[in-house]
Amino acid sequence: FSSGRLLAGGTGPLYVKLRRTLEDAVKVGTLKHGDALPPERDIAEYAAVSRVTVRKAIDDLVAEGVLVRRHGSGTFVAKPVSKVEQRLSQLTSFTEDMARRGMTARSEWLHKGVHTPSPDEMMILGLAAGTKVSRLSRLRIADDQPLAIEHASVSGEFLPDPSTVTSSLYAELEKRQVRPVRAVQRISATNMKEVDAGLLGVPVGAAGLSIERISYLGSGRAVEFTRSLYRGDAYDFVAELTIGA
Ligand code: GLP
Repeated sequence: FSSGRLLAGGTGPLYVKLRRTLEDAVKVGTLKHGDALPPERDIAEYAAVSRVTVRKAIDDLVAEGVLVRRHGSGTFVAKPVSKVEQRLSQLTSFTEDMARRGMTARSEWLHKGVHTPSPDEMMILGLAAGTKVSRLSRLRIADDQPLAIEHASVSGEFLPDPSTVTSSLYAELEKRQVRPVRAVQRISATNMKEVDAGLLGVPVGAAGLSIERISYLGSGRAVEFTRSLYRGDAYDFVAELTIGA
C-alpha cells in the first residue's frame, strides 16, 4: 500500500491530511463524542503513515479541543459542552444550580480532611488559634460533564467532620443550621494548568474562570471560603444591573 492510504484528499503534509480525516470522521459521526480513539499504532497501520505523523495529527486535535487525552486511559473524542447560564446575584449551591436546569449534579472527591488552618484561612474565616478547618476538594460534574474544580474550606466549628458531606455541602450546612445567607464573590480569568485541564477534559491553556467565594451567616460570621475553577467554555455569568443612586 502507498503511504497515506485512506487519507483525506487535498494538498499538504501527511499529518494535516490525517487530521482532516479524523475531523471528518467526527463530523459525519463515524467517531462519536466520547468514543475512544484506536491506539496510535493501529491508526498508523490503517492509514499507512508513521506513528510520528499520527502523534502530530492527534496533538493538533487535542490543542483544538476536538480530542481529549486522559492520563492512563487514552484519547477520546471530546463532548460538545452545553453552556450553563448562571445568575450572579443569587446565593445558590452547585447542586441547586444544576437541578434548576434539569441536570444531575455529582462530585468526584479529590480530598476530604480536617486540618490546622493556613494563615489565609484563619484570617478569612476569622478562626481563633487552636481551631480546625474542614477542607473539601471536588470535581463537580453535571450530567457526566466535568464543569468545575472546587476547594472549599469550612470553619471546623460549623463542619467538624467533612465526611458527613455526601453530595451537597450547602445541604449539609442547612441541616446543621449554618447555611450561609450572604457571600462575596470574585471572578477572574485564568488559563488551565495541566492537572486541572486533565480533570476537566479540556486542552492545557484553555480559558477558565477562577472564582473565590466567602460566604457568611446572618450574624456576620464567615462559614465558607471556596476557590473554584470553572470551564470557560461551559459558563456564562449573568448579572442584572440597575442605575446607581
Ligand atoms: C457553588 C459555590 C461554592 C459552594 C458550592 C456548594 O459551587 N461556588 O462556593 O461551596 O456551590 O455546592 P453544593 O451544595 O452542591 O456542594
